[in-house]
Amino acid sequence: SPAAPGGSRLGFTAVPPSKADTLVVPEGYVAEVIAPWGEPIGVPGRMPAWRSDAGNSADDQAVQMGMHHDGLQFYPLEGSSTHGLLVMNHEYTDEGLLHGPGSSADSPAGVRKSQASHGVSVIEVELKDGRWQMVRPSRLARRFTAFTPFRVSGPAAGHALMRTAFDAEGRTVLGTLNNCASGRTPWGTYLSGEENFAFYFSGGEQTTKDQARWGLPKKAFYPWPNHDARFDASRHPNEFHRFGWVVEIDPMDPTSTPVKRTALGRAAHEGAWVAVTRDGRAVVYSGEDARFEYIYKFVSRDRIAPAGNGLTAAQANRELLDHGTLYVARFDADGSGRWLPLVHGQGPLTAANGFADQGEVVIKSRQASDLLGATKMDRPEWLAIDTESRWVYCTLTNNTQRGQPGRPGPDAANPRAENAMGQIIRWQEDGDFDGATMRWNHLLLAGDPANARPEARGNVKGDFFGCPDGLMFDRRGVLWIQTDAHATQMNKGEFERIGNNQMLACDLATGEVRRFLTGPVNCEITGAAMTPDQSTLFINVQHPGETPSDISRADAPQLFSSWPDHRPDGRPRSATVVIRRRDGGVVGT
Ligand code: FEO
Ligand code: CA
Ligand code: CA
Ligand code: CA
Repeated sequence: SPAAPGGSRLGFTAVPPSKADTLVVPEGYVAEVIAPWGEPIGVPGRMPAWRSDAGNSADDQAVQMGMHHDGLQFYPLEGSSTHGLLVMNHEYTDEGLLHGPGSSADSPAGVRKSQASHGVSVIEVELKDGRWQMVRPSRLARRFTAFTPFRVSGPAAGHALMRTAFDAEGRTVLGTLNNCASGRTPWGTYLSGEENFAFYFSGGEQTTKDQARWGLPKKAFYPWPNHDARFDASRHPNEFHRFGWVVEIDPMDPTSTPVKRTALGRAAHEGAWVAVTRDGRAVVYSGEDARFEYIYKFVSRDRIAPAGNGLTAAQANRELLDHGTLYVARFDADGSGRWLPLVHGQGPLTAANGFADQGEVVIKSRQASDLLGATKMDRPEWLAIDTESRWVYCTLTNNTQRGQPGRPGPDAANPRAENAMGQIIRWQEDGDFDGATMRWNHLLLAGDPANARPEARGNVKGDFFGCPDGLMFDRRGVLWIQTDAHATQMNKGEFERIGNNQMLACDLATGEVRRFLTGPVNCEITGAAMTPDQSTLFINVQHPGETPSDISRADAPQLFSSWPDHRPDGRPRSATVVIRRRDGGVVGT
């Protein structure tokens, strides 16, 4: 790709670190908010207006934008760069902001509203009269919530561990939840990771060893089990096995049934991203964002089928992710690595060790990976695949427990104790993306070089940052990095000079990192997608002002942010932001 003047591929002026309650983009760019939480998505005949006192009902919420926008992808309509679908996750809720005056989170209606605020949204958007806007009504507008039916496919479908009082067959699950990052498949579907699903369940006083391995709490972080028995794992233990999957959605077909793809393994999945082997098979990379958990890849048995015979590409590949081999990564100290097969009957994955069949291997992928000796990582978040160089990148956001008493110490891939800042690891497979071995190194260790503690300094060339999370390659091969430092860390101590969460661009040819955008107070910047012509960038601002807050209480904590509405009687709202150059040129050049 041609370099910008000065030899850099980054053609914008960096923005400074910010502590302001506003979103800042470089000179020459414009950023506009669309589709905040509560905005009606445009289901024909059902477009309840947003109520700024959060007075909307659960039924309203089920056809409005969910809360806490996260991963997003753009699906052009007929190849257009001015008209398409935005599909995005709504990871979790701030119950203190979700419920309006006189309504309680801990009630049947409150739980229903919370469940309706989770999941995934499909909206139609168009650049019209110089502004991106939602197209409403739209026959493609659709919500998936924590009570939408999902089909279960792959080795765990119908498994004894998947059968419940609500689903004797073990093949249909109501809902998806804690959907974090997302990927777009070459066959036109959307992949979404069910991340911190454990927090929604109550295990009671007596949890099993297997439940404990998955972090099942005694009491859920949400009041859901009080009003929806599915989430009471002391009574219905198998419902817990029905979350933690990668879900696949065909956004172009509003009648399609979404699917939980169990062949990809159960995990606190951040998301899933597809590479393609030279002979046309799909390789799905995924990680699980939890301390000391793993990175996985799935290699499809079959080649990606083209559209044809009256089928769209999505329809032609409706079973592609159900057949193949799942692996977990081991990163060795000499810079090599190995993919360890999670295959029933191979190595220790036998009935004698608690794995009756492949269904049990994928349901208990953590236990299986423990036995195989996979590398315990510093919270794997997003992955991004450089299709030209064939390097795979993964953010390891942080792990402050690394090296703490009783916890694993630093290793080559996760080299820092009390790792508050995170790092970006990358690897190239030996041979093709389906290779059994690889070579790996670090793109960078995040941190501020002025920090006293060596483990918090990092080696970033250019604009330093902490806690990498979102990743995206643009068409030029520039790597975009988004950050998610926690509100309790931001703008103090080792993060004092880093500022609010942000988005940066990295020119891999030079290693230079340049800050492109800064978000409002206590938000996370997440989700990145561009139009085919690269002139529009969509991102999400998640949980501005986060700390969970009950604003209906007289002794309510202060609201840290009023973004984006800045109304004295309003509340902060996650939202999508559209970013363009004023001259319509390619973003980042
Ligand atoms: Fe939901 Fe790992 O961020
Ligand atoms: Ca994330
Ligand atoms: Ca994160
Ligand atoms: Ca977050």
